[in-house]
Amino acid sequence: MGGRSQIGITLLGLGVVGGGVARALLEKAESYSRRVGVPLVLRRILVRDPSRERSVQVDRSLITTDAEEALDADADIVVEVIGGEHPAREYIERALKQGRYVVTANKEVMAKHGPELLAEAGRAGVDILYEASVGGGIPIISPLKRDLSANEITSLRAIINGTTNYILTRMSAEEISFNVALRQAQDLGYAEPHPANDVEGHDAAYKLAILASLAFHTRVRPEDIYREGITRLEPRDFRYAAELGYAIKLLAIARRDPPPADAIQVRVHPALIAADELLAKVDGVLNAVQVEGDLIGRVLFQGAGAGPLPTTSAIMADVLDAARSIAQGSRPSPWRYTAAVAVKPMAELVSRYYLRVEVTDRPGVLAGIARCFGDNQVSIASVIQKETDEAAQTAEIVIMTHAAREAAVQAGIQQIESLEEVRHVGNVLRVED
Ligand SMILES: NC(=O)c1ccc[n+]([C@@H]2O[C@H](COP(=O)([O-])OP(=O)(O)OC[C@H]3O[C@@H](n4cnc5c(N)ncnc54)[C@H](OP(=O)(O)O)[C@@H]3O)[C@@H](O)[C@H]2O)c1
Repeated sequence: MGGRSQIGITLLGLGVVGGGVARALLEKAESYSRRVGVPLVLRRILVRDPSRERSVQVDRSLITTDAEEALDADADIVVEVIGGEHPAREYIERALKQGRYVVTANKEVMAKHGPELLAEAGRAGVDILYEASVGGGIPIISPLKRDLSANEITSLRAIINGTTNYILTRMSAEEISFNVALRQAQDLGYAEPHPANDVEGHDAAYKLAILASLAFHTRVRPEDIYREGITRLEPRDFRYAAELGYAIKLLAIARRDPPPADAIQVRVHPALIAADELLAKVDGVLNAVQVEGDLIGRVLFQGAGAGPLPTTSAIMADVLDAARSIAQGSRPSPWRYTAAVAVKPMAELVSRYYLRVEVTDRPGVLAGIARCFGDNQVSIASVIQKETDEAAQTAEIVIMTHAAREAAVQAGIQQIESLEEVRHVGNVLRVED
């Protein structure tokens, strides 16, 4: 395909991110043209509502609502920034089959269908690039594919959802409830009116599926990932955690147990993390991914996880990469998954646990709780009595366990919940050591 005079681009979507991409293509056209060697030219832009006000001035004749027309335009690269699973997946597949490079920011499509789409790209002699699908502008896909590829990755721990990190940061700093912090996030445009995808951890799970698949060269599906959201956290959890020397973060964790076990853990849940760890200090809407490899040790990637400009930065890097390949006529090599690695059941996880329990304030309560855990081989590291309500004769206690198996802890908690003196088990959080 060498000897081109232009690289044609079709843009699917002209919303928050699509607007940023269109603007960059128009305003930085000269500099991109110098970097690639030939100009990048917008050929078609697909939208739903052509009458909508746009954040960027584009030639109206490029805009269409006809997907066939957009996909059949004479383009070398299709940039998909529609979002959602359908019809984005079908559009991407069709573009690849037509021999076009695809650049996408779509975590849902890549988490669910990445391997099939990469295989399709391979068959068509093109590539699908998806740096913007995780961590907005933070380079993480490309480092995992290239710069860290000589390592055996042992673990990956990430804060990859800006909405929840903002909510947790506010809850911690201002001692406000989840609902109040969520409303603040919505007022600032950091959370959507229907925030379940973020606050229940689905978004983070899609992103972790993408990262873990790259880190361990295997296919990790979103449904393989254990997932808990942040809606049950209360301001006092942050206070107690801080007193114990921890922050609470929604962590996406992928870890590989060394042979002979050779299995991976993949989970998204709120966790206590030591306050002096770098990840504990990643606040507000920032994202961060910490990767540990046998050669590199620990590296941390941190930055803006969303927003039109950072996301455009990642998308345009992929576009320029694809454009250079096309201009030079080089043959790409789409990422291939080379190993089948088992996912370890959550019940086998070994962790320390934080537990908040409301009990009737009377002698012998602690002994009863300790017995329930002891029956399940869970040993208690510390117990702190927190607030006492003398009128109601209740007390709240915070328990930290030693490292124990998840299944044993859950069995112990079931027993504890059945004790007469236990009013309720408020929250159970894993400690990420
Ligand atoms: N926003 C961010 O900061 C961010 C960061 C990283 C990754 N991403 C990813 O980037 C993608 C786009 O996000 P966004 O925030 O830009 O979304 P958005 O603002 O809702 O924009 C979506 C665009 O796609 C068009 N569209 C949607 N469905 C369509 C359909 N069926 N046919 C034709 N056009 C359709 C919309 O057309 P109309 O304008 O006519 O409605 C709109 O222009 C998503 O995959 C998202 O996860 C976003």
